[in-house]
Amino acid sequence: MKKSLLVLFFLVFFFCISFAQNLKKANPFHIIPEPVSVSLQKGAFVLNDETHVIADSKSSDIASLLAQMLNESFGFHFVSKKENVSTKENAIAFQINNKSDASLGNEGYNIQISPKKIILSANTAHGLFYGIQTLMQLLPASNSHAQTKNISLKIPSAVITDYPRFGYRGMMLDVSRHFFSKDFIKKYIDEMAKYKFNLFHWHLTDDQGWRIEIKGLPQLTSIGAWRVPRTGQWGTFEEPQPNEKATDGGFYTQDDIKEIVNYARQRFIAILPEIDVPAHSLALIASYPNLSCTRKQYDVSPQYTPDSLDDVLCVANDSTWLILDKIFAQVAQLFPYQYIHTGGDEANRKFWMKDPKDIALMQKEGIKTPAELQSYFEKKLEKLIISKGKKMIGWDEIVEGGLAPEAVVMSWRGMKGGIEAAKQGHQVIMTPILETYLSRKQGDASVEPFGPGLLRLSTCYNFEPVPEGVDPKLILGGQASTWTEKIPNYRHLEYMTWPRAMAISEVLWSPKSSRSWNDFANRVERHFSYLDADSVKYSRSVYDPIITAVKGTDDSMKIELTTEMPGLIIYYTFDGTDPDNFYPNYSGEPLDIPKGASEIRAVAYKNGKVVSRQINKLLNDLKTDLAKKKN
Ligand code: ACM
Repeated sequence: MKKSLLVLFFLVFFFCISFAQNLKKANPFHIIPEPVSVSLQKGAFVLNDETHVIADSKSSDIASLLAQMLNESFGFHFVSKKENVSTKENAIAFQINNKSDASLGNEGYNIQISPKKIILSANTAHGLFYGIQTLMQLLPASNSHAQTKNISLKIPSAVITDYPRFGYRGMMLDVSRHFFSKDFIKKYIDEMAKYKFNLFHWHLTDDQGWRIEIKGLPQLTSIGAWRVPRTGQWGTFEEPQPNEKATDGGFYTQDDIKEIVNYARQRFIAILPEIDVPAHSLALIASYPNLSCTRKQYDVSPQYTPDSLDDVLCVANDSTWLILDKIFAQVAQLFPYQYIHTGGDEANRKFWMKDPKDIALMQKEGIKTPAELQSYFEKKLEKLIISKGKKMIGWDEIVEGGLAPEAVVMSWRGMKGGIEAAKQGHQVIMTPILETYLSRKQGDASVEPFGPGLLRLSTCYNFEPVPEGVDPKLILGGQASTWTEKIPNYRHLEYMTWPRAMAISEVLWSPKSSRSWNDFANRVERHFSYLDADSVKYSRSVYDPIITAVKGTDDSMKIELTTEMPGLIIYYTFDGTDPDNFYPNYSGEPLDIPKGASEIRAVAYKNGKVVSRQINKLLNDLKTDLAKKKN
């Protein structure tokens, strides 16, 4: 008897497990970032013209935002109303929890979808805002904007509970190397909000342009914001010619900044302003030449600053500190966020060693190395930032020579700087170059626009912000960082951003345990339709064949073909013709190279349709790659 009960127990147990797994497999949702938990139920809610959008007294703004989003996407005519949530049917109801749910925190939310109603609840409006981003992803993409009649959209019944893994989920944009208008910044912020990013790191100054109006320092925007126009390959540009007019650039007025800060705040995005000092300061120095070590008059640079050119502020100069005080006082006033990013990266410290004033300062203060002089600068700067009521964030170079006492470190040269800072008890934001720099190419160099290095979508997805052995509480989060030397227009910025920023959003929001590349890759495909509907440009490099040379057991070179996107069929040729789905397909076994072949071409298909670009590789180049790998 006992034995048969035990057998029955195991049968029921395995049935439940397999049912739960089938439910997961059958999950019809494709939410990015993946929520903490999704539990599917029976039935579905039907959204139609008769649906009510209702709110309690604290959530009416968010309810009307959802009504507006649904109207714009599907041609509904919803107007949100304050009504009793418990009595109404065919309703989407918003509630701020009377008693705070500790597990949801400030940004979490709960969605209960049943055939009768959808209830969105959260502790804060911020949480509800993320709830509506998720809700919109339960609906199809639509660019109808048209008056669609009798539309009815089915949403499967489910309970979704969700909250973020990290509090800092950022995206950085460099507006110095190329200027992006106020309207483009708003568009960028709109797209960030859909993927639950909460921090816009605005790199406002660099050698190639100063982008923020500072009252009382007019030359920053009359001189520092402009450079000579150059088009083509960054890195090959001609230096400014005598009497050539600087007409390329722009800046944000203080009114523009206030408008953008407010726009971002309404989307629950804080703005971290960056004023990059003591280096990357050529635009500042071109405006006020007495600030540099050489005190020479320079032009704002139209491209990379040559190593011979002094873009570093003189540390010992009183004028440096007078101007920094003026700048940071206004920056602190304009941006409500508690932190200011003060740069600190890539200082060409050799110029300090040529400057009598800086050498005298080092002797007076017992400073032995240029790195220690930078540390002196950063500590003095931190005092200035604190005096303006803010805290300081700096790139990981500020770890060298001794950290300022309360500084937060943004680790970009890998994770090392962040690990070192955390060991010293400092808070850290991770943006390692090889995993989060969206300025890098996202596919094969032969088909990608001009740019540095390689960062594939799957590499972004595998980024882990908390290194082993580090106290996770010190890792505030991470960010996707986009430097724009080689991004001359907004369409290309979109191409470089999406879908890789989706991968970073999932890394920063979703539980580490739920990460699955195959699952994410399938969801990303569905999100391409949202980007299409929003006319956002994006890269489809994830479909492209990746051609790699490997060594066979007999020492001969063989060819491996893969794609990042799972489930594709790759067709190839060695005979110099363009492959399609009538050519041989790749079985997974590395390919032998036919005698006489000098090139391989490959293309990927899904469901009988070509989905990738064609990748061509010369076998000699692959041979060189293989030799490099061996060394
Ligand atoms: C950096 O990429 N120079 C922070």
